[in-house]
Amino acid sequence: MMNYENMLSDRAKIIKPSGIRKFFDLASQMDDVISLGVGEPDFTTPWTIREAAIYSIEKGKTFYTANRGLLELRKEICDYYQRRFHVSYDPETECIVTVGGSEGIDIATRALINPGDEMIVLDPGYVAYTPSVELSGGIPVSITLRHEDQFKLTPELLKAAITPKTKVLLMNYPSNPTGGFMTKEDYEKIVPIIKESGIIVISDEIYAELSYEDEFCSIASFDEIKDQCIVISGFSKAFAMTGWRLGYVLCNPIISKAMLKIHQYIIMSAPTAPQYGAIEGLRRCEDEVLMMRDSYLTRRNFCVKAFNDMGLETFKPQGAFYVFPCIKSTGLTSDEFCEQLLNDQKVACVPGTAFGKAGEGFIRVSYAYSIEELKIATEKIKIFVDKLKNK
Ligand SMILES: Cc1ncc(COP(=O)(O)O)c(C=O)c1O
Repeated sequence: MMNYENMLSDRAKIIKPSGIRKFFDLASQMDDVISLGVGEPDFTTPWTIREAAIYSIEKGKTFYTANRGLLELRKEICDYYQRRFHVSYDPETECIVTVGGSEGIDIATRALINPGDEMIVLDPGYVAYTPSVELSGGIPVSITLRHEDQFKLTPELLKAAITPKTKVLLMNYPSNPTGGFMTKEDYEKIVPIIKESGIIVISDEIYAELSYEDEFCSIASFDEIKDQCIVISGFSKAFAMTGWRLGYVLCNPIISKAMLKIHQYIIMSAPTAPQYGAIEGLRRCEDEVLMMRDSYLTRRNFCVKAFNDMGLETFKPQGAFYVFPCIKSTGLTSDEFCEQLLNDQKVACVPGTAFGKAGEGFIRVSYAYSIEELKIATEKIKIFVDKLKNK
């Protein structure tokens, strides 16, 4: 038998399987597990969107679209970003419709990174970022974010991480997994550093619409660095469209053209029916997006209180749909906590370490679940935590 391990590329070998998957493989072998693990809305996609996609299929619109995506959709996306987040892009040259934000992260990284280039990623951070840098042959450089800063990127941390080899900063606010948030004032402190160093910022803004107390601010809204920014976003989270696989990338025409070359060879064009659905989503579903956001807000408030009441310190996240309780007081590691909680109470959360070393001492809890489920799950977690205290 041939040794197929030897056939694999070094890059395929170097990337690690996702820590989230690893844990859910464990959970899937048990019955009656309550999961607070998945980062996916519990809402079904708004009907208007589903109807428009079905209608497009009925009409026989089953062909490839332009590589960049339907121009009608790109116009809606650019209008939407301007209307909601005050950044303007040209639909003809600065917008690509992608297969989720996931593809956007990949093609942005590949369009920019040469072997040996450094790309700054934030720790804790979304699981796909480091592998994406590694697959491009780049060197991921982690910034360890701090709980006491509510996991914001501070000017001190950014300055210390930039070297002559730094090419890109990849950031994501509102953040998965921490729920951390950057206000306009927070950005004002790091924008001069970005301008002066000339690095490119890939800003994953996929949770932009799920912002609570403060208004969402896109880093690309700072004119002085707008051309240095690549905005990644999509429909999965705010429009409850995870399975449709639709996202987009907004950036200056030169980088956009390079990304388009990669996109046209690996994807050709994003799926057609979802594009028709998304046009209607952007035109007619803003109220529904707001309704979902308000529902997440109620659940956030419930979770923050529940975890703090049981003695697990949890700051109030200003966006996305995750809380990031600190479990250091239990004396367990994140992995131990999640494994024991799963075995003892059949509740699945994700160890903070699935998102980087700095996630040690934390667990990620998704609150994209009904209040009833959240109540049952947090009661069970309380029983587990109380048992630990009395040991
Ligand atoms: C921060 C972040 N970026 C990107 C994605 C990928 O989303 P999409 O479904 O658009 O590929 C996710 C999904 O969990 C995410 O949390």
